[in-house]
Amino acid sequence: MTADIGVTGLAVMGANLARNLARNGFTVALHNRSAAKTDALLQAHGEEGAFVRTETLTELVESLDRPRRVLLMVKAGSPVDAVIDELVPLLDEGDIIIDGGNSFFEETRRREQSLRERGIHFVGVGVSGGEEGALNGPSIMPGGSEESYAALGPMLERIAADFHGEPCCAWIGTDGAGHYVKMVHNGIEYADMQVIGEAYDLMRSLAGLEPAAQAEVFREWNTTDLASYLIEITSEVLEQEDEITGRPLVDVIVDAAGQKGTGRWTAISALEVGSPVTAIAESVFARSISSQEDLRRRTTAVFSSGIDEHAPAPDYGPDFVEDVRKALYASKLVAYAQGLDMLVAAGEEYGWDLDLRSVASLWRAGCIIRADLLDTIMKAFEVPASRRPANLLLAEDFTEAINECLPAWRRVVAAAATHGVPAPVFGSSLAYYDGLRRERLPASLTQGLRDYFGAHTYRRVDQEGTFHTLWSGDRGEVEA
Ligand code: 6PG
Repeated sequence: MTADIGVTGLAVMGANLARNLARNGFTVALHNRSAAKTDALLQAHGEEGAFVRTETLTELVESLDRPRRVLLMVKAGSPVDAVIDELVPLLDEGDIIIDGGNSFFEETRRREQSLRERGIHFVGVGVSGGEEGALNGPSIMPGGSEESYAALGPMLERIAADFHGEPCCAWIGTDGAGHYVKMVHNGIEYADMQVIGEAYDLMRSLAGLEPAAQAEVFREWNTTDLASYLIEITSEVLEQEDEITGRPLVDVIVDAAGQKGTGRWTAISALEVGSPVTAIAESVFARSISSQEDLRRRTTAVFSSGIDEHAPAPDYGPDFVEDVRKALYASKLVAYAQGLDMLVAAGEEYGWDLDLRSVASLWRAGCIIRADLLDTIMKAFEVPASRRPANLLLAEDFTEAINECLPAWRRVVAAAATHGVPAPVFGSSLAYYDGLRRERLPASLTQGLRDYFGAHTYRRVDQEGTFHTLWSGDRGEVEA
């Protein structure tokens, strides 16, 4: 029996994608470094579809129909290169290697270029949705050549999540574009989770809402314009009781957030392409601060809040909870706006013609940041190019939404600062909004200072050209 696709790397994501492919009618050749995993998969789920068991990469390749499609589901980094090196001598021109892991896009670009020179297609595919999504329909973001998409796209579209009949899979752009878009998805995911955390902290610290009560609040919020997968699972995590102590599980989990790197890459890349993704970067830094456990132990004992502990307790009731909801929504919009802006900047840098409408459409189902909001975002970009908003917040629906949230957003950021509750993304996203909104920024002073100490020059508001003041001379101005 020849197989339509081979999957190598049968840890949970690889195994679930292989099962998803088989359940959708494709014959799937299976390979894993240790055949025991292949056998375990076949034993538990062999009935779900047509599988071909192989023990070596040579056997895997020999079992495939042409063009051969080999999906790598191995750990990002050097393991990907190792498998590619082993595979390439076994493949022919026109065959396709697919990397479905969270690889760094620059590595995908490098691999794509070197394999292209040998006539082999290399497709970096962003896959989101965790284990469950991989099995039942993830959001899929494929890069690579358009030609390779013709041979691969229909398969991926068949196994992808479905949003009202539309698959959450479409060709994103050449070389590393798919992995780039997945990376930014993860950056937004970091921000999304951080703003949920800030809302939780504020409601607990200032409104005294315990986790179980907050589970109800988030459940209610999930019926509003905040409706999303992450809000939904927040209720579930908050209402979970620890089996050992009976306390809320969230109170026995160590408050140090880990990261595998995609959020950090997003922030680094944003700095490189000059895109101010403040909400995403602050979320990465918030995880870093949380992980400085030793330092935090010392500072907690020493740093004061500077707050008058005897002042009457403020009344943070239901109105405050509604304010927090609005602050959360507005900050979330900023995170999405920044992520999408970053995609435009990266598209220019790397030569990808990224279609934001399509990107938003792929995130509507299957992925971790799936949210009702994404359908509205998609529609905002579903207009002729001349009418497309230059920034998501300029889309009419979102300008109105922000206006509606603004007073609450400001009250919440002020309350957080007043009471010493860190809310870095609520605060920085409001600052981003105000930064875009203000007619004059103090950057003019920055320019003056740069010119003073380094003759870096400046532009004037009333004339074309570049100017310099002779600071150490007669302080007259000259054209630079
Ligand atoms: C997804 C997830 C998935 C994973 C990330 C985040 O879209 O399915 O983003 O890719 O959870 O690796 O991991 P960290 O939080 O550890 O960076």
